[in-house]
Amino acid sequence: MPLTNSAAGYGSLTKLFHWLIVILFAAQYIGGNIMVAIGFNAEFAGIGTNTYYNWHKSLGLVALLVAVLRILNRRVGELPPWAPTLTTGEQKFIHRVEQVFYAAMLIMPITGWLYVMYGHYGVNLFGVWEMPRPLPRNDTLRDVFKWAHIVAGWVLLAAMVGHIGLVLWHSAVKKDGLIKRMM
Ligand code: HEM
Ligand code: HEM
Repeated sequence: MPLTNSAAGYGSLTKLFHWLIVILFAAQYIGGNIMVAIGFNAEFAGIGTNTYYNWHKSLGLVALLVAVLRILNRRVGELPPWAPTLTTGEQKFIHRVEQVFYAAMLIMPITGWLYVMYGHYGVNLFGVWEMPRPLPRNDTLRDVFKWAHIVAGWVLLAAMVGHIGLVLWHSAVKKDGLIKRMM
């Protein structure tokens, strides 16, 4: 399988980044909702709130790095043609959803980082390194980026439901093997 995209299909780097982001986003949604739901000084499954926050922020920054590599990789080679079983309407829908995905891959971690920087909460990367806080404390901007992070999270969730729903519809009902293009 070629490393980069070509007319014959997605390259192995695209597939690797695609599934890495799926795993990272799943961890972010599960961990993010647990930490917000349990509140401060609490525990869930033997893990404390602080640990959830540290890991959420740390994995989020790893996801930002993967997203940048993924965007660079998408510019290399040639995108494969649409799957022949997709209707024109589905192609337009997928195109829009992919735009939301690429924007969200940057917006989610950047709004999260700006939120904790303006709140002066800091990032303790995987519990081993207290990262610098280059921005001054500003409670208004903290709240703006907190809500941007939460609202973008809901928009991304809606896009994911559409994307996964379409892939499942093609793979399970139409049985045209769409999922194989990303395996
Ligand atoms: C791929 C990246 C990320 C995704 C998908 C993501 C997703 C989420 C989700 C789903 C929540 C729960 C929102 C709610 O319902 O309240 C959340 C909360 C939060 N995220 Fe992220 N996040 C990401 C990256 C980051 C980063 C990089 C940081 C900071 C460096 C961060 C900081 C936070 C904080 C502090 C909260 C708690 C918000 C609150 O107090 O309600 N996130 N995130
Ligand atoms: C279980 C979840 C998922 C499944 C089964 C899945 C499956 C697929 C499949 C089969 C394709 C190829 C479609 C085609 O023929 O062009 C694809 C493409 C794509 N998927 Fe997913 N996907 C999932 C989750 C996600 C998530 C969470 C994202 C969020 C970033 C995402 C972003 C993309 C993008 C941007 C493409 C276009 C190719 C690229 O530029 O990498 N997918 N996905």
